[in-house]
Amino acid sequence: MMQKIDRELGIHGSRWRTVHKGYFANPEVAMPLIKTLKNAIALSSPPPAVVVDLGGGTGFVLQELLKHGQYPGVRFINVDISKRQLAVDTDSRILAIRTSVTEVTRDLFETKNRPLLFVMRSVLHYFGYTGLLPFLRHLRAQMEPGEFFVHQTACFEHQIDAQRLNLLYQRMRIDKWYPTAKELETCLEETGLAVHSIHEVPKLCLTSRDLAERYRLSREDVRGISAEISLEYGETPAVFVVTPNGFTAYLYYQIFTCVAI
Ligand SMILES: C[S@@+](CC[C@H](N)C(=O)[O-])C[C@H]1O[C@@H](n2cnc3c(N)ncnc32)[C@H](O)[C@@H]1O
Repeated sequence: MMQKIDRELGIHGSRWRTVHKGYFANPEVAMPLIKTLKNAIALSSPPPAVVVDLGGGTGFVLQELLKHGQYPGVRFINVDISKRQLAVDTDSRILAIRTSVTEVTRDLFETKNRPLLFVMRSVLHYFGYTGLLPFLRHLRAQMEPGEFFVHQTACFEHQIDAQRLNLLYQRMRIDKWYPTAKELETCLEETGLAVHSIHEVPKLCLTSRDLAERYRLSREDVRGISAEISLEYGETPAVFVVTPNGFTAYLYYQIFTCVAI
């Protein structure tokens, strides 16, 4: 298996805005997360000293948050491991820190005994099947009771759909893993992150053409993957369909508002 971000560095940076039909730079798509975050900030008492976007990429989520409100006394930090992503985040109100989110510790954010709020969009799947729980435990250990962790994470209602997408990523030789919504909720609760509310967000369309660019797949790779998945699982229009040049798959996201207990 390759390192998580090595194969996708080609789409990091300015190209990130347009990948997957612009999903990650679309203000309308981000709106449910922005509303949820604003709500969590309003519920934090006292207000957070800092909002930290973990794997925040180009800083788009924090920029949208700042576009839709004023947060006196709150600092904004984008933590990402990719230099190319952070190079695009030039908003002077956001401090960029280049490190792995698995390495972050509370003291890095200088909260001065005030709360912090963690946000994360589309990153938990990078930890793979074996890495999810250890990461959540690490994150929870950086939090104080009552603090929020608001994340938008890809997950499926049905086990068979999660299995189908997991086979797709295995065949692309990428160690990402998608849980069912129930499995994710169990992991969160197990690590001391109580799920306060869950909201749906627009799904993400993954064409084999986009995936071939993102993960550098050959035509043979795409043909083989398409044939294997349709043979094993058949086609389900809402999750996986074969197309003349490959396939289209869909990722479903939910926003989990979690509170450290
Ligand atoms: C799918 S992108 C999402 C970017 C951003 N959250 C957004 O929604 O636009 C995943 C991001 O996570 C970053 N990433 C992956 N693993 C990471 C890690 N261990 N530590 C920090 N960043 C990581 C990648 O560099 C990438 O920018």
